[in-house]
Amino acid sequence: MFYSAIRNIFFQFDPETIHELTIKSLKSTGATPLNFVYKQKVANKPVQVMGIHFPNPCGLAAGLDKNGECIRAFDDMGFGFVEVGTVTPRPQPGNEKPRIFRLPEANAVINRMGFNNKGVDYLVDQVRKAKFKGVLGINIGKNKDTPDENAKDDYIHCMRKVYNFATYITVNISSPNTPGLRSLQYGEALNELLSVLKEEQTSLANQYDKYVPVAVKIAPDLTEPEVLSIAECLIKNNIDGVIATNTTLSREGVESLEYGDEQGGLSGEPVKDKSTQVIKLLSTALDDKLPIIGVGGIASGSDAKEKIAAGAKLVQVYTGFIYQGPELIKDIVRAL
Ligand SMILES: Cc1cc2nc3c(=O)[nH]c(=O)nc-3n(C[C@H](O)[C@H](O)[C@H](O)COP(=O)(O)O)c2cc1C
Repeated sequence: MFYSAIRNIFFQFDPETIHELTIKSLKSTGATPLNFVYKQKVANKPVQVMGIHFPNPCGLAAGLDKNGECIRAFDDMGFGFVEVGTVTPRPQPGNEKPRIFRLPEANAVINRMGFNNKGVDYLVDQVRKAKFKGVLGINIGKNKDTPDENAKDDYIHCMRKVYNFATYITVNISSPNTPGLRSLQYGEALNELLSVLKEEQTSLANQYDKYVPVAVKIAPDLTEPEVLSIAECLIKNNIDGVIATNTTLSREGVESLEYGDEQGGLSGEPVKDKSTQVIKLLSTALDDKLPIIGVGGIASGSDAKEKIAAGAKLVQVYTGFIYQGPELIKDIVRAL
């Protein structure tokens, strides 16, 4: 009720302007008495996944808090875990604006942000200041101007920087807005990347005397053989989890809508079934050897249940949360 009134005002403005304004106000009010506007009690529904204790299975997906500036505010809203990033080694501006578009008729968003972020050192500083005791995922990527053949150096750089501050680390190889990134999902390129990152994780685990799980985030636009080959590679390299899925390049169902032909990744309702399909395929192929975190088009408790039924152990939301606000977290946790 309350959020729908706010949303009506928000939606009068350009999406990125509202996003920046919201981030600013959440940054300054999280974990302060001013958080009463959005603070809520969410049922306790603990789950153990990747060796981590989650107070509830509903998390914030990556990309909303790219610089880790509002961790405490999202915790106040009752998320069971918060994933920040994608962060890159060096700060970068991202693509030219406008680069985010609402498609309200389809409960969807198209974005081509291009990993705009303030760099990994800034993010780590924010995480330090947050003094957050909950479950924090840090999602890492590569700079746009890093040549594809050196991509692994960017992931290693970020992994070293965030290792001691993350509850788990997500390796994002599925954003459609960084040229070449998605090619890391295939064949020998994936195997090479994962084996190097596994080695790094092992060495960091020794250095810090703690094991921080690594999850890989994949795209919804994969053929069945591609999903099966990714699953095999995840198992082979002892990866701790998989996040399915990122946004889609498909425009099915939105072609005729305003902004439907904008370039970038489509999220929300139109990606829901694609993401569930990938989760189902992964679930069969992985046979419980590593857990799946389900994300893509979740806008209700029953959508979340669908992801769990398909084989996910946890869920994340982004677009549904933009459309429905913090109440969605309660609905999801209640349903699971
Ligand atoms: C504006 C926007 C920015 C995003 N940025 C990132 C990002 O930086 N890293 C990432 O892994 N996913 C990013 N995503 C993808 C979401 O985390 C999520 O995987 C995808 O949107 C599907 O979930 P949804 O339908 O609930 O939005 C972004 C999504 C949106 C809408």
